[in-house]
Amino acid sequence: MSTRPYIVGNWKMHGTRAMLSEARAIDRAAERLLKVEVALAPPFTLIHATRKEAELIGVGAQDVHPADGGAHTGDISAAMAKDAGAGFTIVGHSERRTNHGETDALVKRKAQAVLDAGMTAIVCVGETQSERDAGQAEDVVRAQLHGSLPTGEGVAEKLTIAYEPVWAIGSGKTPTPDDVGAMHGFIREQLVAIHGETGSSVRILYGGSVNPENAAELLSSEEVGGALVGGASLTAESFLGIIVAAA
Ligand code: G3P
Repeated sequence: MSTRPYIVGNWKMHGTRAMLSEARAIDRAAERLLKVEVALAPPFTLIHATRKEAELIGVGAQDVHPADGGAHTGDISAAMAKDAGAGFTIVGHSERRTNHGETDALVKRKAQAVLDAGMTAIVCVGETQSERDAGQAEDVVRAQLHGSLPTGEGVAEKLTIAYEPVWAIGSGKTPTPDDVGAMHGFIREQLVAIHGETGSSVRILYGGSVNPENAAELLSSEEVGGALVGGASLTAESFLGIIVAAA
């Protein structure tokens, strides 16, 4: 596992070809910021063009269908995402879990499909505000991890976890650095329970309202291996602010 902070931009449903200039600017700057591993997950439609524009940074997909192919109108298989230029895929984002009813079992199948296609997987977990208020945050995250992660030899090396409390996504609200550290420590324990010793080297990213101003503090805990960034990854200026803070 790389010990460099891993900063991943999730463009969600944003971006036409006009946004490739942002990817290019991020890539050019990444050349000077080798202490940080940088990646972008643009919409499917921009994966190929982003891969061509950006030589240094990683490029990934935001989701895939778990099947190899077939009658799945509108879906993309892991092999297709890889063929377009993706080196990793995000699975189990809370927007997929909520808007598309994705269960832990489905997320696990998707993650396995991503690994089978030769990519790495970023598996997202995180509790809602009401779950946190009810004191259930750890129970929810434990269940998501145990239900969503593929297992087996050589699997842990290809996984990254993103802890994204649902209430922090796009809200401008963030947990305290202590709360982030505590949850990442808890996730680490679960990773070791699931994957044995290899679980101790899986990267755990924080996601939810990360911006250039709060990034250094949110990334300060030892167990925080980087960030999964939404809104602030949409311009090179703000994304680079986060990358600089992480370096
Ligand atoms: O996957 C990234 C994410 O959900 C966080 O989004 O806009 O709060 O940084 P944002």
